[in-house]
Amino acid sequence: MKVLSVASEVFPLVKTGGLADVAGALPPALKAHGVAMTTMIPGYPVVMKQIAKATTVVRFDNLLGAKGKLLAANRAGLDLLVLDVPGLFDRDGGPYADMSGNDHVDNWRRFAIFSRAAALVAMGAIKGYRPDVVHVHDWQAALTLAYLRYGSENVRPASVVTVHNLAFQGRFAASVFGELQLPKQAWSIDGVEYYGGVGFLKAGLQMADAITAVSPSYAREIRTPEFGMGLEGLLNGRTDALHGIVNGIDTDIWNPEMDPHLAVQYSARTLKRRAANKCAISERFGLVDDDDPVLAVVSRLTWQKGIDILAQSIDAIVARGAKLAVLGSGDKGLENELLAAAARHRGRVGIIVGYDEPLSHLVQGGADAILVPSRFEPCGLTQLYGLRYGCIPVVARTGGLADTIIDANAAALGAGVATGFQIAPLNPDTLTDTISRAVTHFHEPKTWAQMQKNGMKTDVSWNHSARLYADLYRSLVHED
Ligand code: ADP
Ligand code: GLC
Repeated sequence: MKVLSVASEVFPLVKTGGLADVAGALPPALKAHGVAMTTMIPGYPVVMKQIAKATTVVRFDNLLGAKGKLLAANRAGLDLLVLDVPGLFDRDGGPYADMSGNDHVDNWRRFAIFSRAAALVAMGAIKGYRPDVVHVHDWQAALTLAYLRYGSENVRPASVVTVHNLAFQGRFAASVFGELQLPKQAWSIDGVEYYGGVGFLKAGLQMADAITAVSPSYAREIRTPEFGMGLEGLLNGRTDALHGIVNGIDTDIWNPEMDPHLAVQYSARTLKRRAANKCAISERFGLVDDDDPVLAVVSRLTWQKGIDILAQSIDAIVARGAKLAVLGSGDKGLENELLAAAARHRGRVGIIVGYDEPLSHLVQGGADAILVPSRFEPCGLTQLYGLRYGCIPVVARTGGLADTIIDANAAALGAGVATGFQIAPLNPDTLTDTISRAVTHFHEPKTWAQMQKNGMKTDVSWNHSARLYADLYRSLVHED
């Protein structure tokens, strides 16, 4: 079974969030299930630097008017295809935004060209390579399925689109349509047209043989107006094709027994050793190293992640005896609110503004709890890293957070199965109260250690979910 995965980021080459982690961890996990996954990504400068030994496998003369080439490389165990189009991906800034954080103005063109090339690969542009399934991730890759649908009379591979976050839909003005080189009939309600403009993700959701969302709860939530963000109607029309498959994590990269980014490695049997990591993060975040718990946040600082609710609650949280370490970047207003809180509560609240992969490991290995107060969360990975590291998750009861964390209510504590704390509904008061509940249990070392061990025993690997993807691919290929 050959699957072409099409994604705008993949760990460890380029990462802005959980999509990269998933795109990087799924291929090795699928191997055990007889699936060979090749991953196609854009040739950003950061990627090109890492694939010096690549070979050119295809030259494209006309990708929406641009010339480009496709490079094949192997890196970190991943079979990669990298699309190099001069002027398109080789520029300053991140994958989606410029140095000042504004979206690249030609993102529609960048990712349409990327998708066009992916469709050509899916249809056999590389000699000797014909995938059985093309699996596209999020809006940046979703137009691939439109190019496949309208592109050729030949037999097409089966197709899967994964929704990592419906908040990002790739919506553009109608005027873009003329540039996409799609036939006129694509401009329709069952094509790429979406509320009078062009919808990249909408097109993918419409045309995929199967749709997956990154957790069962999120797959249900996106069928409602509250979470569907305008696409609930379409999704309700496609319920037979819609599946929720929860993300796993790469348990080799995230392994407290081997993690090179920790001050001290440890296991469920040597949890006391975490103290050295707590001491290390206290120093990094400017916190006093006392017996009170450190709650950590490792996140994009945005409305989705509920960081404004956290900012409003900080004085109350500190009053309840918790310390806070925040690693993140994003919304400037939120960054400033958190910096102001850190200045108000020296030694109790620390924030490091930025993106720091090694530090994110140390935080999981040293903080007592990881806080994820998201308004919505398709899956969420930091709570899974928390489970694996004995860093107890305190999460909003939504999406994948609800699916992966067992709240320490009386029943779960009694049964000895609790792994964390759920906040529901989410507001500054419930956030503070839940943290208070966590602080109380933190000071009961036996209960806390039991919860840490429960989390560390939980299977957060890709084993189960990789099988679900493999089964899904097979069901699509054998259908007709
Ligand atoms: P999302 O993809 O919505 O941002 P996820 O929880 O799925 O949320 O994934 C976020 C990923 O990005 C995790 O691997 C997390 O550790 C990482 N991350 C987020 N912010 C930072 C940061 N400031 N520094 C390092 N890693 C970060
Ligand atoms: C998105 C979601 C996040 C999910 C990640 C990987 O970024 O916001 O919840 O974990 O994709 O699927």
